[in-house]
Amino acid sequence: MDKSVATGSALPFLPFARPTIDETMIEAISDTVRSLQLTSGPQVLAFERALSDYHGGRPVRVLTSATAGLELALVACGIGAGDEVILPSQTFFACANAIARTGATPVFVDVDLHTRNMSLAAAEAAITPRTKALMPTHFAGLPLPMDALYDLARHHQLRVIEDAALAIGTRWQGQRIGSFGDIVSFSFHPNKNMTTIEGGALVFSNPVEAAHVERLRFHGIRRLPDGTRDVEAGGAKYNMPDVHARLGLLQLARLDEFNARRHLLVARYFERLGHLPTDVLPPRGDEGHSWNMFAPLLPLQRLGRTRKHVMDELAARGIGSGISYEAIHLTSAYRHLAGGEGAFPNSERIARETLTLPLFPLMRLDQVDRVCDALLEILAA
Ligand SMILES: Cc1ncc(COP(=O)(O)O)c(C=O)c1O
Repeated sequence: MDKSVATGSALPFLPFARPTIDETMIEAISDTVRSLQLTSGPQVLAFERALSDYHGGRPVRVLTSATAGLELALVACGIGAGDEVILPSQTFFACANAIARTGATPVFVDVDLHTRNMSLAAAEAAITPRTKALMPTHFAGLPLPMDALYDLARHHQLRVIEDAALAIGTRWQGQRIGSFGDIVSFSFHPNKNMTTIEGGALVFSNPVEAAHVERLRFHGIRRLPDGTRDVEAGGAKYNMPDVHARLGLLQLARLDEFNARRHLLVARYFERLGHLPTDVLPPRGDEGHSWNMFAPLLPLQRLGRTRKHVMDELAARGIGSGISYEAIHLTSAYRHLAGGEGAFPNSERIARETLTLPLFPLMRLDQVDRVCDALLEILAA
């Protein structure tokens, strides 16, 4: 449906995220379908090699989603019932769900109001003898302070599973996220910086764990020399099809170009919105930021408006917006694990006030201007 008609705006609807899929990619997908080599095969191997090259030659395994990756990373670390994993309350539900599905307990902590990344001081305070791992998210592509994160993990002998769903191509002090660290998880959902339609990848420091995940992602099957199969440990069905991997290869080839484009667009957002109070703007980061999202906080209290009102007003002007994220510790499934309302004030304030504005590589600078004009008009009204 043409949303410009539904919204009454004369301009075409501008979504808050949109993948870049060119004709070469569509042709390549079609060729792979025509080859009838549909499920995991040579394209998966080639995609894993390319991802490994991109991440300093480390072992990589691709999966059906980052959610699957987070779950298998935890299993590969031997995490399960009785264990605790520390994560930010201000991230996507997948992180908490992956932990809960292993039988371990998600332990939520607050985030920094400005960076929106997990507070390492809060994480340290939450460590108990049962803590086995930290699972921080690099929010919107801004990396955590990696030296401090890994110092903390080393000091307490914890595993780190980095949720880098929003951070493919992000660099910390010049080094790509995923090219160092423990286990790093990427997402290729269409709203991410590159897509395989659905999909994810894990980058490992340990090839034995990579081989373990390779088995776990396909029923736990191990092939025996006599041609039969054994199952050593129950696995899942999280293998990526070749059709998706073929797209991933072509997306990866354009990733740095996509991310450079995101930088350009974000620079325009800052140019146009830079006069807003700094506590509502996202941190600028440096050239290593991969800018998956541009999500200011809305000064709702001062305005006496609801976020829904702002979103509806934007939609009426043909502009999409999103919410990333609700506070997980206040969801029905996890409310019992934290102290309820007021437990994590930064996470809760972000959940109330955040608004994700349109940002994707094919967006034009005049479309950023259109969003800013609309937002400033709505906020001033
Ligand atoms: C921060 C974060 N982590 C993990 C995920 C899960 O990714 P996937 O959809 O590939 O399972 C998402 C997806 O939106 C996300 O935003």
